Amino acid sequence: MTSSSSAEPAPEGPPIPTPAGVVVDRVSHEDIAEICALYKRVWEPPQDGIPTEFLKSAVPTPLEFTSRMEGVTYFVAREGKRLLGIVGSAFSEGSCRLVDLAVDGEARRKGVGKALVLTAVDWARKNHAHSVWVDALDRFNEAKALFHHLGFADAGVLHRHRWNEDVRLFEKFP
Ligand SMILES: CC(C)(COP(=O)(O)OP(=O)(O)OC[C@H]1O[C@@H](n2cnc3c(N)ncnc32)[C@H](O)[C@@H]1OP(=O)(O)O)[C@@H](O)C(=O)NCCC(=O)NCCS
Repeated sequence: MTSSSSAEPAPEGPPIPTPAGVVVDRVSHEDIAEICALYKRVWEPPQDGIPTEFLKSAVPTPLEFTSRMEGVTYFVAREGKRLLGIVGSAFSEGSCRLVDLAVDGEARRKGVGKALVLTAVDWARKNHAHSVWVDALDRFNEAKALFHHLGFADAGVLHRHRWNEDVRLFEKFP
């Protein structure tokens, strides 16, 4: 999971701005049903032109999500007991890939996505990742805006890469 267990501990980074009343934390197995319900709320409303195969993989069953947790560290944002958003971080070969980012439609543009991604980037930095990267269907303008806002650079486009859709790569050096 981590890139190196013998490396010196990374110094503390700057505090992560988090919206008032929101807490970002690691997921636990008790969260799984709520997480799957969140993905349903985010992706199941009719989505213009998004491939059905994408939507199917974006809304995992509890069993599928449990198996995804094997290689991925997930962080969730909550306000009280309400789950507002989630992101996963997966280490491979010294870099960290962010996956499965989603914020509840009713909680958007309040800084929740930013808090989640910055938490995952900070975790990657503390675990000595050399880079953090993420991909998104090119049509996902909100995600593109969020990654650019957080200083991710465009790292290329894979044409008709996934379900015949262009996929954009973003990269940041923590
Ligand atoms: C992408 C997503 C996670 C953003 O979450 P969010 O909590 O709304 O984002 P934040 O409030 O933290 O936004 C931080 C900054 O990102 C940019 N941004 C985020 N959403 C934006 C939008 N819809 N339009 C323009 N800029 C946007 C802005 O610069 C924003 O700062 P500002 O609000 O001060 O202008 C959310 O829209 C979402 O879940 N979308 C559907 C799922 C998805 O696309 N997942 C990503 C798959 S890779």
